[in-house]
Amino acid sequence: MDKAALYRQVEEQLTALLEDVPDLVAAMASAAALLHDAFDHMFWVGFYRLAPDGSLVVGPYQGPIASTRLPPGRGVCGAAIAAGETVLVPDVHSFPGHIACDPRSKSEIVVPLRYRGELVGVLDVDSDRPDAFDETDRAGLERCATLVATAWI
Ligand code: SME
Repeated sequence: MDKAALYRQVEEQLTALLEDVPDLVAAMASAAALLHDAFDHMFWVGFYRLAPDGSLVVGPYQGPIASTRLPPGRGVCGAAIAAGETVLVPDVHSFPGHIACDPRSKSEIVVPLRYRGELVGVLDVDSDRPDAFDETDRAGLERCATLVATAWI
């Protein structure tokens, strides 16, 4: 199955799993597990939630242990919050301020989560391969983030 078809399958599974379960933790946990299981190029998949002080606090994830709190405005995640749009980094080592949660990470994509127009966190995906993410990932992950954010109550 090609990547676009896999994303459609993940979106269908996530929609079905969340039917009648409008719960944020269930949504984040299910999305992280589905994505991590479906795609070989995803080494770490998870969520960070925006705290009142502007830092990002880790939520449900799949993959190696990661930082529990990212300082405001730092890293790829902070850049995605500041820009209010998806940030795709083909080579994390050339991204100024990248926060290395795991030395195996080589490329990364971070999608902001919005609930009723407000930024509430990010969906963060790391790969142990360089230049692992493309526009299909951007579109698919943005749709998954939208599905999760609808449960952000
Ligand atoms: N690399 C991220 C930090 C989170 S870990 O990748 C899970 C960043 O630079 O924001």
